Amino acid sequence: MLANTRLADRTWRVDIEAPELAKRIRPGQFFMVRLPGHTDPLLGRPFALLDILPQESGVSFAHMVVGKATGLLADARAGDRLDVWGPLGQRFPEPVAGARRVALVAGGIGQTPFLAHTRELLGSHGFAGDPPARRVETVDFVYGARTSSLHAGVDAFRDAGATVHLATDDGTAGTHGRVTDVLAALPRPDHVFGCGPEPMLKALARQCASMGLPCHLSLETPMACGLGICYSCVVKVRDTESPAGWDYRRVCVDGPTFAAEDLVEFA
Ligand code: FES
Repeated sequence: MLANTRLADRTWRVDIEAPELAKRIRPGQFFMVRLPGHTDPLLGRPFALLDILPQESGVSFAHMVVGKATGLLADARAGDRLDVWGPLGQRFPEPVAGARRVALVAGGIGQTPFLAHTRELLGSHGFAGDPPARRVETVDFVYGARTSSLHAGVDAFRDAGATVHLATDDGTAGTHGRVTDVLAALPRPDHVFGCGPEPMLKALARQCASMGLPCHLSLETPMACGLGICYSCVVKVRDTESPAGWDYRRVCVDGPTFAAEDLVEFA
């Protein structure tokens, strides 16, 4: 570990030296992190790519302290060793053809995958050996939290070129309301990506369906192995070839991002 920096209440950014991972990972993918020498928790935890460090020397991720693993991570110091394996899962899909404006909608710790995604969309960084290429003109980053002290790393999104729109449940920053209220008031995006708590994602999926907007959701499903072995992460996805009209998919290998319209329990 190179650095452990507090971003907001209970929220930390961890920078790790991992040049091979930095050269191969793409926005939307994740990696597993485990604290060596600990048997509780025994398993690793999945973390989305937050950003690439300078000269592709490593990667960063962000986490909110919610349990033992993240509590131990918050206490870790520069120089501590972490077990890290990845990249895992699928990258974010490209925006629809001809898209000029993309909205990235986040709630809670769900902003994590969208900083690297902003850099990819606006062409400030090429990932996995690809040259940087601007894909859209505008990235609207819509970020909701219970209160302003939980908004983490907002300046990094502004520095990356996103137009930032905040929302809070208590009105302490930005719009007093929900991310869906903010999205409804913005110029119409060509494509929406969402990440955050499930109720927020379901509301976002319904809103995009009613507005006829393409929408992809990055799921924060708990994972045990991250490798497609344990089936602890399954989600119901529409499948016309299945008698039931849906089948289970593993979020860790088939996701974590899915088209909202394909998620049976979301839209
Ligand atoms: Fe084990 Fe997905 S976390 S199959």
